[in-house]
Amino acid sequence: MAKVAIMGYGTVGSGVYDIIKDNACRVADNAGEKIEIKYILDIRDFDDHPEKELFTKDVNDIINDSEVTVVAEVMGGLHPAYEFTKSMLEAGKSVVTSNKELVATYGTELLAIAEEKNVNYLFEASVGGGIPVIRPLSRCLAANNITRIAGILNGTTNYILHEMFTNNKSFETALSDAQAMGYAERNPAADIEGHDACRKIAILSSLASGTEVDCERIATEGIADITLDDVHAAEAAGGVIKLIGYAEFDGGKVYSHVAPMFIKNENMLSGINGVMNGILITGDAVGDVMFYGAGAGKLPTASAVVADIVDSAIHASRRKIIGWKKARGDVMKSTGNDFAYLVRCENTEDEVKAVTNADIILCENGTVVFMTEPMSLDSCELLKSKLGKVKSAIRVLN
Ligand code: HSE
Repeated sequence: MAKVAIMGYGTVGSGVYDIIKDNACRVADNAGEKIEIKYILDIRDFDDHPEKELFTKDVNDIINDSEVTVVAEVMGGLHPAYEFTKSMLEAGKSVVTSNKELVATYGTELLAIAEEKNVNYLFEASVGGGIPVIRPLSRCLAANNITRIAGILNGTTNYILHEMFTNNKSFETALSDAQAMGYAERNPAADIEGHDACRKIAILSSLASGTEVDCERIATEGIADITLDDVHAAEAAGGVIKLIGYAEFDGGKVYSHVAPMFIKNENMLSGINGVMNGILITGDAVGDVMFYGAGAGKLPTASAVVADIVDSAIHASRRKIIGWKKARGDVMKSTGNDFAYLVRCENTEDEVKAVTNADIILCENGTVVFMTEPMSLDSCELLKSKLGKVKSAIRVLN
């Protein structure tokens, strides 16, 4: 029997508890032994819980209990999740987590401690919620040089944009719906401003390149400036706008950004709607591979956490190796390939034609919409300054 602890009894933690209880036989069959929850750590009281005796407020109860071999850290946030995780690994316990902020920020250090202690630090739930993507990228695509990753990695913003496109909902209404459904972070600014997607593309890029990609160095824009006028412009151009975590890999170097991007209706990512996530990974041997599924929510995220608990139980004595190493030298590039831009401006058609040969997509009510040829970010800035009345310039994902 493997005895486990759950740290944090919020949306994901209660989902982990429910799955271990409800699917006990299936989980035991896959782990090769019964999985028993010995502790749940939370600072709140759960006096009405059917197993209220499992709850503790003292992390030392878990650290000092040698029977506990696997700990699920589903608290979120950096502190005290970092300190608790480090203590668990140093005490020789495997840790599994859904905490993308922690993995993106301290993953390199925590992976090194896990290696030193010969235990597991697994994080399948940190990217894409319930979608299997960490293992496939690390293992099933191991024969490939990964050349590009483009992903819809944040369910909350995808839900908001989809509601704006299909139901004409205001940004605020769509956000409060996403919060009510448990998709948004405790502080939804992390979703809206793109930081959550940034942490996730940093994790995927680190796995794909084998070296740490620093999330602080990824240029990150959110969706707060996207308006219903942009929605209208994108529809006229035959596509949608999605918040994309993007990375290109070239000769050991990585370029990455998070930004709203225009996606033509023919592209598979355009059909990823609501809270679903979609991740398009390109390998030099396999070509394009698409991962799709529920990117947030209680049970989908807990599904991946429990799978990591099972894997940790199976690999109790022989560590499962998934991760990356500290980068030697600077692996990050500040510019990537050129992008075309979908531009919306309040210039006249003649003013637009005076500075670009681009085909005009829409010209109505004092607004002109056009799409540029692929160009550098600097060239796009120059074009914007020449026009002087650009309202938005959104990169196009090819
Ligand atoms: N707030 C995140 C999202 C939760 O909306 O995708 C899952 O990581």
